[in-house]
Amino acid sequence: MEGAPVLEVVDSPLDAEDAIRAGQPLPEALPVLPLRDTVTFPDSVTPLAVGQERSIKLVDDVLGADRMLAMVTARDPEDEEPGPDGLYEVGVVGFVARMIKVPDGSLRILVQGTQRVRLGPFVAERPYLVARVSELPDVIEPSAELEALTRNVQRTFSEIVEQIPYLPEELQMAVANIDDPAALGHLIAGTLRIPTAEKQELLEEVDVAKRLRHLSQVLARELEVVQLGTQIQSQVESEIGKGQREFFLRQQLKAIQEELGEEDEQLAEANELRERIEAAQLPEQALKAAERELSRLEKLPPGAAEHGVIRTYLEWLVELPWSVETEDDLDLKHARKVLDADHYDLEKIKDRLLEYLAVRKLNPDSPGPILCFVGPPGVGKTSLGRSIARALGREFERISVGGVRDEAEIRGHRRTYVGALPGTIVRALRDAGTRNPVFMIDEIDKMGADFRGDPASAMLEVLDPAQNDSFRDHYLDLEFDLSDVVFIATANVLDTIPAPLLDRMETIELSGYTVEEKRQIARRYLVPRQIEANGLKPSQIEFADAALTAIVEEYTREAGVRGLERQIGAICRKVARDVAEGKAKGKVRVSGKRARALLGRRRVFAEQRRRTKHPGVATGLAWTPTGGDVLFIEATAMPGSGKLTITGQLGEVMKESAQAALSWVRGHWAEIDPGLGEKWFAEHDIHIHVPAGAVPKDGPSAGVAMTVALSSLIGGRPVRNDVAMTGEVTLTGQVLPIGGLKEKSLAAQRAGIKRVIVPGRNQGDVEEIPKHELGKLEFVFVDEVSEALDVALS
Ligand SMILES: Nc1ncnc2c1ncn2[C@@H]1O[C@H](COP(=O)(O)OP(=O)(O)OP(=O)(O)O)[C@@H](O)[C@H]1O
Ligand SMILES: [Mg+2]
Repeated sequence: MEGAPVLEVVDSPLDAEDAIRAGQPLPEALPVLPLRDTVTFPDSVTPLAVGQERSIKLVDDVLGADRMLAMVTARDPEDEEPGPDGLYEVGVVGFVARMIKVPDGSLRILVQGTQRVRLGPFVAERPYLVARVSELPDVIEPSAELEALTRNVQRTFSEIVEQIPYLPEELQMAVANIDDPAALGHLIAGTLRIPTAEKQELLEEVDVAKRLRHLSQVLARELEVVQLGTQIQSQVESEIGKGQREFFLRQQLKAIQEELGEEDEQLAEANELRERIEAAQLPEQALKAAERELSRLEKLPPGAAEHGVIRTYLEWLVELPWSVETEDDLDLKHARKVLDADHYDLEKIKDRLLEYLAVRKLNPDSPGPILCFVGPPGVGKTSLGRSIARALGREFERISVGGVRDEAEIRGHRRTYVGALPGTIVRALRDAGTRNPVFMIDEIDKMGADFRGDPASAMLEVLDPAQNDSFRDHYLDLEFDLSDVVFIATANVLDTIPAPLLDRMETIELSGYTVEEKRQIARRYLVPRQIEANGLKPSQIEFADAALTAIVEEYTREAGVRGLERQIGAICRKVARDVAEGKAKGKVRVSGKRARALLGRRRVFAEQRRRTKHPGVATGLAWTPTGGDVLFIEATAMPGSGKLTITGQLGEVMKESAQAALSWVRGHWAEIDPGLGEKWFAEHDIHIHVPAGAVPKDGPSAGVAMTVALSSLIGGRPVRNDVAMTGEVTLTGQVLPIGGLKEKSLAAQRAGIKRVIVPGRNQGDVEEIPKHELGKLEFVFVDEVSEALDVALS
């Protein structure tokens, strides 16, 4: 601790034991130090904390004299300041061997106990207790019984030490080496955690034989308690090993059945497994392994621990679809129909998928690329995968590798590992039941961000056509041919996918839907699905366009349609209830108003209306893994000395663009507000804040919005509430191009924006976005940030 006084240490100049051996006589009276809840024994060293004022004074005084005091235990541990009556009558004399002053004023002392004494009358009570003392020697009569007691106590104690963690092993040695029964009794009594009163009884007993007898009872009791504890522990452990228990019970059952003359289970089991092995048509290598394990199983005595392990392994072998496969339906017209039946629009993606199928048709043996669907949640990645499986007539299986850090989750544990199982690839194949399913690997971008080495390299083996014909799961320890599996990966973002994996995949981007597209998807797919799921008939309910628009705009904020489907489901549920209760007459028409009434409070607000009412707030646009979002830049000024504060947990690049924006505005104040004057900047501090939100806040693309926010602030003109902007700004005011335009424009539409200011050099990107995805959004292209001011400020 800094600043605390240095500890003061007083060490005993005389060796206490020497003093006793020298036969230093016991003084007539000694200061009495009361002990709470602890008993010391002769010849022991006791550390004590001394905090009471009278006790501190006592220690001070004896340190100045012969260092001797008597330690006596209080009868009642709750007694704060026991008087003569509050103390036991027998205690131990000791020498203060070491004293340390603790900064809080209390003392720590180390007392070397010497002999046992009986307290006589007290001669003083102030400032601390002083009493006459007389030695209380042991009575000891060597006998065979004493000898036997000594050994018994030594043995029992040593057993206890073995089982109790708080007793150091060295005690066993020490106890074995003491041959004085009196000293032995004291040492053991001093180390046990038994009630204080019982300890005191042991201290007071002068007859050594009686003392050891008592002690051996105490020890026997302690040992029992300790053993009971161990027993409970092992019971608990056996609960944990329930699987094992079940196994033993089964073995017993088997023994009983045999006893009763029922069929030899083991033989029956082996026969059944043999049949299943034959039926499974294992490839050669796997067949060999299966036969080897089966013959091991037959030789094992029933009840051997390995029995269950081998049996589980064999079950896995026979359940895997080694030679079960479906035949591909490569009729492209049929495929097109299936894709259209399941998904609205997504033309480009459907075309790409049909090309993929066409290549398969022409060249069935070429491995074909591994597709990776990338896009925000709920845009149809998983359901496209399902459609492909349906079009091909294959089984569909899905695994998620999000959060997987351990290679063993993908590839399994070796069989030597307790509780080993195959990895997720093999497990999914078993569930698929065919060796050529469409296999979707979800969240490949979220795999083991910390240790990406291992699971990623296992994944690589799975996906790489050059290696995956001989994929080896650690548990099976056999090769499985994955080359006929169609793998499709999905991800929300590309940049966290390990490069070697990304390299092997062909990415297909799905960016999100406009309000109009969402309404179409709802009308054609989600509404019919939810009507059916909630037990309604199409003749009982109808959604108006206004209802769908209201749900999209007021109750969801998403790039995909998952929330939309959920809200439609909620409305259907409520209508279903009315129908079931007989309250609904005829067809229920869900209008916009009705939808609002059923869904309750509006969840999503067009925030920029409110936010941009005051000068100094501009609406920016950000790209996010969930499909883009709006971002507010707030600037305020206060009297000061020209300082700039930037808050909102921004990345370095974004902070720099805030500084650049301020520099540009300082250089152009006269164009923004001629009445301002150069001095304004020196007399004000400026604070730029970007309110929190789930938007990653870095990168240069908020430059235009920052410049506009600052200009709005100094010019006192609010930013138009239907304008959003994106673009990087240089110190000279040029506007540089940025990325993620498609996501940003969808986010702007979701937020109710009508015009977006974008860099002139992004014009080509905007033209590439299909017209219908832009809705009514208007784009204003600018090359200089001053042009943006004209558009944005009201
Ligand atoms: N274009 C579409 N036409 C019809 N339904 C669609 C379309 N896009 C998405 N859906 C529906 O939206 C729901 C969510 O889609 P899906 O589960 O495939 O999302 P996802 O992209 O896999 O999302 P995540 O990244 O969260 O896994 C599904 O019920 C799906 O059928
Ligand atoms: Mg999905």
